[in-house]
Amino acid sequence: MIHGPNLNLLGQREPEVYGSATLADHTKTTQDALAKHGASLQTMQSNSEAQIVDAVHQARGVVDAIIINAGAFTHYSWAIHDALKSFAGPIIEVHLSNPAAREKFRHTSVIAPVALGTIAGFGGLGYELAVQALFCHRQ
Ligand code: DQA
Repeated sequence: MIHGPNLNLLGQREPEVYGSATLADHTKTTQDALAKHGASLQTMQSNSEAQIVDAVHQARGVVDAIIINAGAFTHYSWAIHDALKSFAGPIIEVHLSNPAAREKFRHTSVIAPVALGTIAGFGGLGYELAVQALFCHRQ
């Protein structure tokens, strides 16, 4: 699971938009959901585009799937788009808020074209739904 910029501040940053749960809370939710399927989680958060590109490269051939909330990079990082395109497994894009219902600059996702699907607007439930989507897709 990959988290982009400012998501280290979840719980403190705009709680009216992103909720009161921290990134550690969402990580635990995701871990617990994966454990029900006998799967485990590797996770990283970075405020740096380059580190996210490197993390995607390192995931190639090592992990089965990527869940990514790229934060604001969602809307313009073609470098992350290209890196994800090099990953063979399923990619699920998650957003806590619903970017389509917010400012215009959030209406574009450059992650969406390389994702199996996008889950947005359901807060932390989105991470559980992402795990569910991954396992349903496999059936
Ligand atoms: C976000 C939505 C993005 O537009 C924003 O830049 C974020 C968080 C979300 O989870 O709702 O940092 O990805």
